[in-house]
Amino acid sequence: MPDTPDIQQRILALTERLHHLNYLYYQQDTSEVSDQEFDQLLAELQRLETEHPDLAQPNSPTRRVGGTITKQFPTAVHRYPMLSLGNTYSEDDLREFDERVQRGLEGAPYSYVCELKFDGVAMSLSYEHGQLTQGVTRGDGTRGDVVTPNVRTIKTLPLALRPGPDQPQDFEVRGEVFMPLPVFAELNAEREQNGEALLANPRNAASGTLKLQDSTQVAARKLRFYAYALLTPGRHFASHSAALEALSRYGLPVSDTWRRASGIEEVLEFVHYWAKKRFDLPVATDGIVIKVDDLRQQDQLGYTAKSPRWAIAYKYPAEAARTRLNEVIYNVGRTGAVTPVAMLTPVPLAGTVVKRATLHNANQIELLDLRLGDTVYVEKGGEIIPKITGVDLSARPAEATPIKYPTECPACGTPLVRPEGEAHFRCPNERGCPPQLKARLEHYVSRKALNIDGLGAETVGRFFDLGMVKTVADIYDLPARRPELVTLERLGEKSIDNLIAGIEASKQVPFPRVLFGLGIRYVGETVAQKLAAHYRSIDALMAASAEEMAAVPEVGGVIAVAAAHWFQQAENRELIERLRQAGVQLAVTGEAPVPASDRLAGLTFVISGVFENHSRDELQQLIISNGGKITGSISKKLSYLVAGDNMGPAKREKALGFKVPIISESELMALLPNPDESPAADAAIDAPITAGPREQGSLFS
Ligand code: IVH
Repeated sequence: MPDTPDIQQRILALTERLHHLNYLYYQQDTSEVSDQEFDQLLAELQRLETEHPDLAQPNSPTRRVGGTITKQFPTAVHRYPMLSLGNTYSEDDLREFDERVQRGLEGAPYSYVCELKFDGVAMSLSYEHGQLTQGVTRGDGTRGDVVTPNVRTIKTLPLALRPGPDQPQDFEVRGEVFMPLPVFAELNAEREQNGEALLANPRNAASGTLKLQDSTQVAARKLRFYAYALLTPGRHFASHSAALEALSRYGLPVSDTWRRASGIEEVLEFVHYWAKKRFDLPVATDGIVIKVDDLRQQDQLGYTAKSPRWAIAYKYPAEAARTRLNEVIYNVGRTGAVTPVAMLTPVPLAGTVVKRATLHNANQIELLDLRLGDTVYVEKGGEIIPKITGVDLSARPAEATPIKYPTECPACGTPLVRPEGEAHFRCPNERGCPPQLKARLEHYVSRKALNIDGLGAETVGRFFDLGMVKTVADIYDLPARRPELVTLERLGEKSIDNLIAGIEASKQVPFPRVLFGLGIRYVGETVAQKLAAHYRSIDALMAASAEEMAAVPEVGGVIAVAAAHWFQQAENRELIERLRQAGVQLAVTGEAPVPASDRLAGLTFVISGVFENHSRDELQQLIISNGGKITGSISKKLSYLVAGDNMGPAKREKALGFKVPIISESELMALLPNPDESPAADAAIDAPITAGPREQGSLFS
């Protein structure tokens, strides 16, 4: 039995060797050893680490598959905000982009880098002294979920980098986590066999996988990663292409599809080349990203409110497929809206097999003059769920039957209504229609509402199915029903503890989010904030008439009528009483004005210099009203330095020294929520089969 220093040596040697073999295998597609030898080395390391846990390296190759994590993910603030890209859909748009770049650079020569736009989940990775220390999802662009254990299961991702003389000590890698198409196909085939719901596309599959709590399950899903950016506090490389090359040298996976382009003509060649070829790749792509190569020129071009002026995404036109419409089923959403869904003969389309498509509403069925048995055209057009865009009338069989839109709710049998001017039929049985009740519970516990830890949509849905919870007030009775909970399968003591703690914690959630969580039609996040700020308590709100509410800025007549009606219902008043008894926040606390959002909660800012569009006071006000804090001095703990013109060099130096991100006025604006909130936007929540709002909003997805 060798003594400890020998064992330590052996562990280090094995670790290094296995990292090297992983690099060869996953990056270079070669191997110096057989699979068996590799497994033997790994097993030896595993054994030594088990016997001497204190000697195990934090980034050991054995730690790719972690154990079970039982808590939700912690969050972290992005050092550099994760912005989005402007989208274009035509070559003309691309040429216009090029003209803007040309003007912005005032005639100086420039070149581009063209990359494929991978359709996965944006990820920010931190490497410190060559070691992977953290993986954070985009989240809202400012703050994301820390999913490091899950990211570590990505086999092509080095936990330790290959050293290089130009390697920055600490840096961030941005890239896309994706599920390879064959893995996705296999996963869905398996799910189908098990009678489980199919995943809409590889992007959803990747994003769902990253959110799994058990990293052994994540490892089984075989995610991959492509790096497309390297971020350091100063400017470490002269060009983006140099950074990409460095990333490859360090052992990070960079798709070798990227090219330099000396001008827009070469960019277009790249676009044409990949238009069809991209379907041969084992990864879903939805376009091309074009970036100005020179980093100094990138700085010169700067940012708009949402995205860089030095880059743009070109999206390929949606691919269409032809298939047969076999059946139409009807889903009922949270506010009772009935959405028809077309069931199709499965057809491959842009990398996935399409089996269903949304029909939006009855109007669309009429407009398309759809019949069962028709041959239809389906498009994916960037939507998660494909849609039917046309009918091939020449292929209509004689027996094609007109679609009879139901007159009764498919879930509860109540006669449907179609209010004047609305596209959707609705089930008016708000209080008895199971899918509506269930969706309301799911909304209440969701992240933007009460965000109840340990009580996700699935669990609350299960409680509903078991008849244990019907309304949101019933949630607060759960802690007292522990004896019943412990009898449920797949719900361990620990989960129950989490659930109860989560319910308890939800009593501290501020009033505006509770108001949003009630799921009143049209009362989205912003409207809830406006109403809460104006009335300050639910009692004042309940006492207000529709006319009064309509006078509150940003609360229109339609919203006011819906809200006033909701508060007049005896059942809803009773519900509120029960929430009050439970201790849920039903009033604004303290004197402070209700923030316009909590987007910047936990972040501190220093504002310095002169700004183009706002005064410093206005910027301060904006930050405070969105939950952020202003401070005067730059420290390690500062989240952002907002820099305008004429900012002193000392401040910049100090911020750089502390690695505090320096952002511009427009980058600050990009951190703030979009002010849009309309009844139309809220109605989108109703569509039951979409997997939540598109992630491609104003920020990275
Ligand atoms: S660069 C400032 N390069 O596209 C934005 N993004 O809206 C810099 N994406 O979800 C982004 N492939 O994750 C860049 N080669 C690529 C990309 C890429 C996919 C995604 C990104 C984000 C969205 C940008």
